[in-house]
Amino acid sequence: MSSSHLQMWFNILSLLLLLPPLANSLEAQTWIKAGYWYSGSEFPVPDIDSSLFTHLTCAFAHINSSTYELSILPSDETYISTFTDIVRQKNPTIITLLSIWTQDSNFSTFFSMATQPSHRTSFIESSIQTARLYGFHGLELYGMGPYGIQPDTSTKNMKDMGILFDDWRSAINKESKNSTRSPLILTMAGHYLPSLSTTSYPMDSIKRNLDWVHIGSYDYHLSAKENFTGAHSALYDPSSNVSTDYGIKEWIRRGLPAKKMVLGLAYHGYAWTLVNPKDNAIGSPARGRAITADGSMSYKYIKTYLRSYGVKVVYNESYLANYCVIGSLWIGFDDVEAIKTKVLYAREKGLLGYKVWQVPNDDNWVLSKAAQEEGKDKENKQLLLEILLPTSAIVTLLLGTLTWYLRRRLCKWKVLAMRVMATRTKSRYPNLQAFGFTDIKEATSNFSHENKLGEGGFGPVYKHMFQQFVWYELYLMPRVTLSSYLIHGYVPPEYVKRGIYSTKYDVYSFGVLLLQIISGKKNTFLYGRDNLHLLEYAYELWKDGKSMEFMDPLMDDTNSGCKLLQCMQVALLCVQEKWEDRPTMLEVYSMLKNEIEDVSKPKRPAFSTKTDMDEENHHKSREEICSSNFATMSQVMPR
Ligand SMILES: *[C@@H]1O[C@H](CO)[C@@H](O)[C@H](O)[C@H]1NC(C)=O
Ligand SMILES: *[C@@H]1O[C@H](CO)[C@@H](O)[C@H](O)[C@H]1NC(C)=O
Ligand SMILES: *[C@@H]1O[C@H](CO)[C@@H](O)[C@H](O)[C@H]1NC(C)=O
Ligand SMILES: *[C@@H]1O[C@H](CO)[C@@H](O)[C@H](O)[C@H]1NC(C)=O
Ligand SMILES: *[C@@H]1O[C@H](CO)[C@@H](O)[C@H](O)[C@H]1NC(C)=O
Ligand SMILES: *[C@@H]1O[C@H](CO)[C@@H](O)[C@H](O)[C@H]1NC(C)=O
Ligand SMILES: *[C@@H]1O[C@H](CO)[C@@H](O)[C@H](O)[C@H]1NC(C)=O
Repeated sequence: MSSSHLQMWFNILSLLLLLPPLANSLEAQTWIKAGYWYSGSEFPVPDIDSSLFTHLTCAFAHINSSTYELSILPSDETYISTFTDIVRQKNPTIITLLSIWTQDSNFSTFFSMATQPSHRTSFIESSIQTARLYGFHGLELYGMGPYGIQPDTSTKNMKDMGILFDDWRSAINKESKNSTRSPLILTMAGHYLPSLSTTSYPMDSIKRNLDWVHIGSYDYHLSAKENFTGAHSALYDPSSNVSTDYGIKEWIRRGLPAKKMVLGLAYHGYAWTLVNPKDNAIGSPARGRAITADGSMSYKYIKTYLRSYGVKVVYNESYLANYCVIGSLWIGFDDVEAIKTKVLYAREKGLLGYKVWQVPNDDNWVLSKAAQEEGKDKENKQLLLEILLPTSAIVTLLLGTLTWYLRRRLCKWKVLAMRVMATRTKSRYPNLQAFGFTDIKEATSNFSHENKLGEGGFGPVYKHMFQQFVWYELYLMPRVTLSSYLIHGYVPPEYVKRGIYSTKYDVYSFGVLLLQIISGKKNTFLYGRDNLHLLEYAYELWKDGKSMEFMDPLMDDTNSGCKLLQCMQVALLCVQEKWEDRPTMLEVYSMLKNEIEDVSKPKRPAFSTKTDMDEENHHKSREEICSSNFATMSQVMPR
């Protein structure tokens, strides 16, 4: 969908209705999109696409074991001293931080520093000086990961850490006053749990002194250490408390406000060797690590593997994690879906943002772009989720679908789609004035040139058309109780049942709409002998090879029966119960354009009343119908 159209949508929508609430909630809260660059990656700093981030952290400076001053390895000096200047070239507003490694000599250097006032002073003064010298805007104490400073380190150590933060903050404030520059940002990277056994991080000091904490929400399961496959950065874990969701809740329970946390995202995974290639789910027996010395693999490397083997990535909805299986090789990692869901999770939990370990592991910026997209324009998330997204998705898709068909069969389709829209809307909202094709024609002065806003990938877009749809779809939503609306609407089951806004939300809405358009039927009624709702009715007919019975007689186009069947199959794929089964919008586009040869068989749609006992036997019939005519499919899409 053309982004300029979408943008305009959001603008119009906000102007019309959302302005007052939006204005209140947009309290200049920046959404942090941060990432690490680690010198050991040897990834050239100039190649970082810093426009995808708001903050970048350069890793690592060290602590000198005799002077306790901040020290930079000679090999890192050039990188660290030029880091800020270089990443600013692509993003002049980027904020940079210098991360400080704490693990030298098994943390003994760090804790000897933290426990002695004079050592602390040396460390703190030198850290501020170094940051200023090289143009960094902040500092980070890096004490995380499976080998990091864990909160079960002795109570004394944790107390010292708290004192260090107090001293550090007051020195930073003093320096800021004296230099009349804004104070350095002070952060730490911590374990995913704030407390272990009986001890805890110095929570009060952290709250008082740090700008935020990077939650190390990954590396939960390491293939070098465990002999069961594991989702190393699982958002949820049905069988244990080792999960990001549990960790975040613990941090909040221990008193750290959500607004002081950034969610850790991992651009790496771990490879296991399976004991039995057939037993390859999350938690299956394994013989330890594979491929690399510690089993870790960058996302880039994983994708290279997948491409060369042509392997499909599995997305597990219970863990919100991806994995793939290549023979006896099992790799658990976060792909685009998992990353997007996590960014959305961070949004929903009211966190400050996310931070990626580590930026160079991305594959052509795919993950960073996905993360950035997911966080966009969602300042008013509650309203968006409940009102704007369902409606804008529907309306946008309706418009897209419309214009897309309009190009090919202008009149018939226009009338039809308007009718669907009008009847649906009218029946649900009796007081509503619905628009027919003629109304719209009039409103746009016969689709005149002046009212044309532009021409995008889906055809021409007219000004008044937009506003009326916008008005009606949006204006009504808040007045209808959501629960009564949901079941028969365009809202997918995961949102209805669990409040999860999946990345396949729009796909579902599109599927429902497409079924309505090809059938000319409302989705608020029940159909067939068994009183099935529209989705299931469509599925039953499709399954029994009677798809043509579903089609609207108005579209009695004998030559394009096969196109309609293709549309129906794609639509059924879009409304499947599980979001991971649904295709992406891009795949939908390709399928409709006939770029994908082997369109998969839809499973039973969401909210079905029947179950799939005898699935397998049914699909043959409609396959035969279509195969003869496959090459002409691409005509469905404009080009
Ligand atoms: C620590 O600092 C001292 C004095 O500047 C220096 O001689 C020594 O090499 C440094 N040690 C390390 C490990 O950098
Ligand atoms: C590091 O310190 C912990 C206790 O703080 C100890 O259990 C562990 O053996 C030490 N590791 C090494 C390599 O010295
Ligand atoms: C304030 O800054 C000046 C130089 O700009 C420096 O000489 C002085 O020591 C600083 N004072 C403090 C308290 O840091
Ligand atoms: C998870 O944590 C809860 C308390 O937060 C505890 O009651 C429960 O036993 C824990 N479950 C596991 C599997 O450790
Ligand atoms: C996710 O993985 C768990 C454990 O392997 C499995 O029980 C569950 O069925 C999977 N869920 C999905 C949706 O694949
Ligand atoms: C799993 O790991 C444990 C300890 O590392 C080891 O004792 C055990 O033999 C391993 N089991 C398998 C099946 O490899
Ligand atoms: C639109 O077209 C109709 C005839 O099709 C004409 O009567 C009408 O005046 C036109 N309206 C405008 C605003 O051009």
